[in-house]
Amino acid sequence: MRRLNLDLADRSYPILIGGGLLSRADLILPFLRSARVALVSNTTVAPLYQEVLATALDKAGVAVTPIILPDGEAHKNWESLNLIYDALLATRCDRGTTVVALGGGVIGDLAGFAAATYQRGVPFVQIPTTLLSQVDSSVGGKTGINHPRGKNMVGAFWQPKLVLADTDTLKTLPDRELSAGMAEVIKYGLIRDLPFLGWLEANMEGLLARNGELLAEAIERSCANKAEVVAADEYETAREGGRALLNLGHTFGHAIETGLGYGEWLHGEAVAAGTVMAVELSHRLGWLSAADVGRVRVLLRRAGLPVKGADLGAARYLELMSHDKKVVAGSLRLVLLKALGHAVTYADTPRDELVAAIDACCRE
Ligand code: NAD
Ligand code: GLY
Repeated sequence: MRRLNLDLADRSYPILIGGGLLSRADLILPFLRSARVALVSNTTVAPLYQEVLATALDKAGVAVTPIILPDGEAHKNWESLNLIYDALLATRCDRGTTVVALGGGVIGDLAGFAAATYQRGVPFVQIPTTLLSQVDSSVGGKTGINHPRGKNMVGAFWQPKLVLADTDTLKTLPDRELSAGMAEVIKYGLIRDLPFLGWLEANMEGLLARNGELLAEAIERSCANKAEVVAADEYETAREGGRALLNLGHTFGHAIETGLGYGEWLHGEAVAAGTVMAVELSHRLGWLSAADVGRVRVLLRRAGLPVKGADLGAARYLELMSHDKKVVAGSLRLVLLKALGHAVTYADTPRDELVAAIDACCRE
């Protein structure tokens, strides 16, 4: 088992990565406030993994209330959140109850927001089961739901007590979802870890073939990067750089997700196309070479990801991007690359360059 720590003073927590962890109730017990757990999952993940976890907790004397939500990004909304509150209230869960998220990023974000708000906050544990959630969404405490006008627009920062990533769960993940997670893995290489980018280029086929050691290595290196960034700027308040850099490609990607309707493209797919737009724009600003742009495109393609944007039209992209959470006093801050492995936040992009970069990426 690999072990990392997210260092947030009295809210620090471990990130445990390895095979066979779902049945290890002993790893979870020290983080429970009482012997009561609300286990939030969905109709796809629960039949696969709920029993092994619930049985292990039950044997350890923990009472488990299962809460099973409909599956999909389209359900990351108030209705699902209310289903969680209803179940917590109906079964008289109290402030000692720990909410445990078992699933991908949608379940993690929903369950986390429920934990942040139920009775003004109860403890929370993340058990991510997709590559994307194991390398990104389970770590760092961002929780929330979508609004029809914008992705992740309602939410809270609420750190888990523990992240338990069982790499065996990736064996049942559909190929398209594995690729979607790879977009966030590649992100860490692009924004701050050039050696990791090279390692991904050398190992992409093995990763997609689900070599367990390679996947564990990629998850650990991704989480190590994320933990460092979050520890330095937990609430994304740094004036420049900081946690916002984790959103490379996301401003464009969120426009695709909202513009097409949630669930049409996978989050990671939208991030991949958005990353190409950010890289293309960085090239137009003179920071990246054409060869750099080509290198990013090739790696994303090899990971099975789209490099062409959804054809919404540049005007619609700009309209949707104007709702981004990185807009400060009306000015859009984009995450761009000064070089491969070196991201910055940038508020001075000329509008015509932005439009040209979007158009170029939607054409090809
Ligand atoms: P997801 O949660 O929708 O999971 C993808 C699909 O895989 C779903 O159908 C799910 O039921 C299924 N699944 C999950 N685990 C499985 C398994 N082991 N075997 C088979 N099927 C499995 O999507 P995701 O990519 O995990 O997460 C995307 C979400 O995460 C988005 O809503 C995004 O906004 C959010 N996100 C949040 C953060 C954050 O910091 N909080 C960061 C990145 C992304
Ligand atoms: N996924 C971006 C962040 O956690 O800040």
